[in-house]
Amino acid sequence: MEKHSDVHEVVGIGFGPSNLSLAIALEEHEAKRDGHPISAAFFEKQPTLGWHRNMLLPSATMQISFLKDLATFRNPASQFSFVNYLHAAGRLAQFVNNQSFFPTREEFHDYLEWAESSFSDRVSYSSEVTSVRLPQGGGPVDHVEVAVRGTGPRGATRVVKAHNIVVSTGLVPRMPAGIDRDQRIWHSSEFLEKFRKLTQDSVKRVAVIGAGQSAAEIVRFVYDSIPGATVSAIMPSYGYSIADDTPFANKIFDASAVDDYYNCGERSKDAFWRYHKNTNYGVVDDEVIRDLHQRAYDDEVRGTPRLDFVNLSKVDSAKQTGDKVRLTLHSLRSDETSDLDVDVLICATGYDSMEPSELLGELEPHCLRDEQGRFRVERDYRLATGPEVTCGVYLQGGTEHTHGLASSLLSNIAVRSGEIADSIAERRTNRQYSTA
Ligand code: FDA
Ligand code: NAP
Repeated sequence: MEKHSDVHEVVGIGFGPSNLSLAIALEEHEAKRDGHPISAAFFEKQPTLGWHRNMLLPSATMQISFLKDLATFRNPASQFSFVNYLHAAGRLAQFVNNQSFFPTREEFHDYLEWAESSFSDRVSYSSEVTSVRLPQGGGPVDHVEVAVRGTGPRGATRVVKAHNIVVSTGLVPRMPAGIDRDQRIWHSSEFLEKFRKLTQDSVKRVAVIGAGQSAAEIVRFVYDSIPGATVSAIMPSYGYSIADDTPFANKIFDASAVDDYYNCGERSKDAFWRYHKNTNYGVVDDEVIRDLHQRAYDDEVRGTPRLDFVNLSKVDSAKQTGDKVRLTLHSLRSDETSDLDVDVLICATGYDSMEPSELLGELEPHCLRDEQGRFRVERDYRLATGPEVTCGVYLQGGTEHTHGLASSLLSNIAVRSGEIADSIAERRTNRQYSTA
């Protein structure tokens, strides 16, 4: 017989902004004020909190208002707001004088670390969750066993039990078909770590594939960092397109848009994506586009062009040979192929959304799927399961098909975390699982 005191009420898998926001929502939940706090433990495979560290380029700014922080949209009076962080750092007045809604990614990372410092007692770092198992003995599943592997020097595996798990493992880097990572072939998600190890004096030409925000930021950074190098920006489009963050389009990221999306039919869902994909995917902030164009223009005036825009092109293959990478480019304009030799290739080719099937292990067959084979997800982000499962499996991410465009973004994390915390508390009250 399981002793319920051995079972965590919540185990969070991954500790990025989403689950940090959940930790805050649980801390501020009325269940805690009523003297019944919801116990939680979080497991993160990185050694410390790290939010896309390899893309913390010096001038990169957030793509979201500072008010869409970890807590404000759920609780504007939260002590974990970005405004309170600024106040604590003594920078509130300067921030306002700076007159921008969009802090640098470096500053936002500092904010995340500041908020995290209040929760470090609940987080185990260097701890990778490898699988979820059903409890031994059969019968109703009111908790699961979560296998956690230490990623540090003494990487032992342990098992923790949970009435609810919240999976928040983030986006998955996507390489172009047929191109494998190598010493000189990188995905943008590993950019800074690899770039710092490069002997930059020897670099004469760098190629960057993609026309999204990551690609444009990396092209600008490499151009500025290695003054002698030519940067080939290879993109399938004619040029970079702007990320639409104008007021009406931005409503797509409002909390109320989640209800609209969740409750509409497949045709309307399709329309959301068709009309508003350009708010986020394969698009670039106005400021970065203008920066790049200015640099290219200045080079033209000087007669020393270093930005080589290879538009309407895809890369068919890339192979590292010695210190060089040979690319085979396919021009969509002429339908011809050509070779290009570079010192480094960076694939800023985007990400796949979170897909938890493998992680869910023995629990996965108990999770229900729709006609297209996708997970069925309830409005409260709980995976729909067979009646034999009374524990909760919640997703923060990987819900684009049910909850819409903001699923992988920061826009809605404060509200979403509050909804998950409410759901967990309500299901406890209704004794769908018991902590007695
Ligand atoms: P995130 O990926 O941040 O965190 C997941 C965590 O889970 C990671 O720390 C990972 O190590 C950990 N993990 C994974 N598997 C694990 C396992 N098995 N066991 C334990 N831990 C595990 N969005 C936006 O709205 N505004 C913005 O400005 C940006 N900026 C931005 C920049 C860049 C470079 C990228 C690539 C993406 C963005 N985004 C964004 C989108 C991005 O998804 C978002 O900012 C957050 O990272 C989402 O937070 P999550 O906590 O959901 O995932
Ligand atoms: P993305 O927006 O998905 O862009 C990927 C780009 O790669 C697209 O232009 C895509 O073209 C292209 N591509 C994919 N496969 C290709 C191939 N085989 N050959 C040529 N081109 C190919 O990815 P991202 O730029 O990494 O952005 C991901 C998320 O991170 C977004 O939410 C973005 O806003 C965010 N981000 C934010 C910041 C910041 O906050 N400052 C910085 C970077 C990223 P197609 O469209 O034709 O597929």
